[in-house]
Amino acid sequence: MTPDTDLFEAACLVCPVCSGHLELMGRSLGCPNGHRFDLAKQGYVSLLSGKGTSHRSDTPEMVASRAAVFDAGLYDPITSAVAAAVPDGEGTVVDAAAGTGAYLAAALTASADHRVGVAIDLSKSCARAAVRSHPRVVSVVADLWAQIPVADRSADAVLSVFAPRNAAETARVLRTGGRWVIVTPNRGHLEEIVEPMGMLRVGDGKTERIAADLVAAFEICSQERVTAHLELTAGALADIAGMGPAAFHRIRVELDAAAHALAGDTTTSATVDVTVTVARLAG
Ligand SMILES: C[S@@+](CC[C@H](N)C(=O)[O-])C[C@H]1O[C@@H](n2cnc3c(N)ncnc32)[C@H](O)[C@@H]1O
Repeated sequence: MTPDTDLFEAACLVCPVCSGHLELMGRSLGCPNGHRFDLAKQGYVSLLSGKGTSHRSDTPEMVASRAAVFDAGLYDPITSAVAAAVPDGEGTVVDAAAGTGAYLAAALTASADHRVGVAIDLSKSCARAAVRSHPRVVSVVADLWAQIPVADRSADAVLSVFAPRNAAETARVLRTGGRWVIVTPNRGHLEEIVEPMGMLRVGDGKTERIAADLVAAFEICSQERVTAHLELTAGALADIAGMGPAAFHRIRVELDAAAHALAGDTTTSATVDVTVTVARLAG
């Protein structure tokens, strides 16, 4: 597939080495200082700098589980809330730690025809999935803690959904009037299945910690609680557990066994309970 020059131009990607503007040159991106980054054959580009990263990213198995959860529509209430929180306009939407790109794709589908999305994730498996999530997504492998590799003031919105948050970089890349859309789990999120499935419990004050992240650069525009009731089959249960950190210490057969013990051949209930926070640059 030939890469789309207009798409890459609109994405305003910058070089991880010198922060120069990256331009599409055949099947590579290049900056004026001669740094080059080849597009993978699947269409994403890695902008990890030579130093690499010490952070753990999602595995192919986790990405497959995550894709199954979205395909089954289990997180549709969250996806819709995120898409609705992105302001109207034509500017770029950056999904910082995009996973499969499901939230970004929903935001683009709800927006103007030519709006472009930049999916950033540390995981190559996520980057491959994000390329396929929507025709106007540019997919980038990068470490958010090092840099969000887009130009200053180039984004209308940044999404941080169940994801690490780099407030300083988000403030740098947002345009005046841009929005930071953050999704955090509340204590009740999936609480019925957390223990039996060996999942991580949501820490106290996860939503409150947003205030600390926003520091002086942001002010909160709105906070909406999104709740939903799920009826999960054993397969869906294993997918929900398998898309998160539980999968770093439990293999799929163990998750399947725990899921069958809980749901048997019928279903078990679980609650979706998250907060969608929308913030803007202060001042
Ligand atoms: C819980 S998942 C959420 C993914 C997606 N936002 C969603 O909700 O479907 C967290 C994501 O953060 C990514 N990630 C973790 N550390 C990262 C980093 N330092 N830079 C970029 N992405 C990172 C993981 O690979 C994973 O895809």
